[in-house]
Amino acid sequence: MSVPDTWWRHAVTYEIYLRSYADTDGDGLGDLAGARVRLPYLRDLGVDAVWVTPFYPTSDHDAGYDVIDHRAVDPRMGTLSDVDDLVADAHRLGLRVVVDLVLNHVSSAHPWFRAARLAGPGSPERSRFHVRPGRGPGRERAPNGWQSIFGGPAWAPFGDGEWYLHMFDVEQPDLNHDHPEVAADAEATLRFWLDRGVDGVRFDAAGAISKDPDYPELPAGWQAGDPAPYSDREPAHDMYRRWARVLAEYPGDRLGCAETWGGPSVLATYLRADELGQAFAMDPLFWPLRAGEWRDGIQTLLAATGQHGRLPTWVHGSHDVRRAASRWGPDGARAVLLLMLALPGAVYLYGGDELGLPEVDLPDEAIRDPVYRRSGGTDRGRDGARVPLPWSESPEPYGFGPPGSTPWLPQPPGWGAYSVLSQSRDPGSPLALTRAALALRPGIWRGQPAEVSWLDTPPNLLAFRRGVDGPSCLVNFTDRAVRWEPYGDAVLLSSTPSQDGLLPPLSAAWMR
Ligand code: GLC
Repeated sequence: MSVPDTWWRHAVTYEIYLRSYADTDGDGLGDLAGARVRLPYLRDLGVDAVWVTPFYPTSDHDAGYDVIDHRAVDPRMGTLSDVDDLVADAHRLGLRVVVDLVLNHVSSAHPWFRAARLAGPGSPERSRFHVRPGRGPGRERAPNGWQSIFGGPAWAPFGDGEWYLHMFDVEQPDLNHDHPEVAADAEATLRFWLDRGVDGVRFDAAGAISKDPDYPELPAGWQAGDPAPYSDREPAHDMYRRWARVLAEYPGDRLGCAETWGGPSVLATYLRADELGQAFAMDPLFWPLRAGEWRDGIQTLLAATGQHGRLPTWVHGSHDVRRAASRWGPDGARAVLLLMLALPGAVYLYGGDELGLPEVDLPDEAIRDPVYRRSGGTDRGRDGARVPLPWSESPEPYGFGPPGSTPWLPQPPGWGAYSVLSQSRDPGSPLALTRAALALRPGIWRGQPAEVSWLDTPPNLLAFRRGVDGPSCLVNFTDRAVRWEPYGDAVLLSSTPSQDGLLPPLSAAWMR
C-alpha cells in the first residue's frame, strides 16, 4: 500500500516543553513569547516542526495537562494573538507547528466538572463524565479495581455515593466521549486550532479516550501491555477516523499524531489508511543498548507500520521519561540520535536533549509531578526531565528568564555549562552534533527507499544500508572500538569522533 509523500512522514519534530523553555515575563514559567523568540534557534538547529505542549488555562495539577478551557490561552503563557504570532513566525522560518490536544480528560476546575459535582447523583451534568455508584452497602467502595496510570485507584468519590473515573490524577476527571456534547466539543476544539493555522495536533493520551461502558474488572493475570477495557478500544478508532476527516478538510496535509504507548501491533492500528499519520513508538525509549534488541525491534516496527503504508515515528525523548543522556548515558543518547535519524520515518526530539541535559535529582519539596504524591514517594516522577533550559552562562536562571527570576523548578548549580551559548562555541558538544546531523540528514537519508538492508556484523554491532548503493549506518554497542571500513567507504558523521579507522564504543556513524 502506498501513502503519498508528505512533510510529516520524515519530519524531525522538536518538543517545546513550553513551561520550561523560555520565560519572557519573569513569572518562572516559560511562555509563548519566549518560544517565539527562540524559533530562529530551532530553524538553525535544523528541525522541520515544533510540538508545543499545552498553553491552555489549567489548574496546574499535571503541569498544564489538566485543562480548564481547551480553546483559550493561560494568561501566564500569553494570549491567542501570541499563538497566532508564533504560528506566523514559525511559518516564515519554514517550521511547522503541532499543538497538543488533551481531549481525554479535563481539569476538576473545568465548568463541566464543577457543575457535575454540584448537580448530584444521576444528573445529566454527571453524564459527561464516567460516573458510577460505589460498591458496598454505603457505596463506600470504588466501582471497580481499575488503577490510575499515576498510581492508586482510578476512581474518586463525589461523597454522595457516586464515583468518577480519573485515569490520571484525581484532579483530571475523564470525559465520556459517548456523550454527544462531549464529542461535539472535542471536534470544535480541533477545528478551533486548525482554523488558526496549526499544521498538526498531537492527541494526548490517545488510547485512553474510549472505555468499556460496562467497566469490567481486568481479567485475572492481567499484565501491563495486555488489552484493557480502558485503552486502545475499537470505538477510539472511530473517533480518530472522524477527526482524520476533519483534518483532511483543511488544506496543507494537517497532521494527526497519536500519543500511544502500545507496542508495534497496537500503535499500527492508529495508522490505518483512514486514521492518523503518526503514532508514537515509545518502546525504543526503553530498549537496552544491545544490537539484537534494536535490530529486532526496528524490524518489527517497520513491518507493523508498513502494513498500512506508513513509517514509524521514533521518539528519542519526551517530558514523560528520563532525560536521554541519563537513560542511555551521554554517549548512548548521541548514538541513538544518529541511529533514529538514519531510519525511515519521523523523529521526535525533546527540547534540551540537543544539549545533552541530564536528569536532575530535585529536592523532595520542589517536586510538582502528581506521580510523586500518588506513588507515595516511591516514584519521583517526571520533573527531573522538566527543569528549565539553560540558554547562557549568566547567573541563574541561565537565560531561561530575566535575571533574578525564579524558575518553576530549580536549576542545579553549574547548569550554565550545558547552555546553548557555551555549546555553540564547542564543536564537540551535543548541540554541534545535533546541528550537523540535522543539516546532513536530508541530503543523505531523504529519498532513500523505506526498506533497510541489514549487513552482517560480529555480535553487538548494528549495521544497515538504505537502498542498493545507498548510505549506511553503523552502531557500535560494544565496549571497544571497532573498524568501520567493512560497512562503508567513508564516515560522513559519527556521534563520537572516529580515529585511525576506528569507531569508539557506544557510537554511531553515517557512511557512504
Ligand atoms: C500525556 C502527557 C503527560 C500527561 C498525561 C495526562 O501522557 O504527555 O505529560 O501527564 O498525558 O494528560
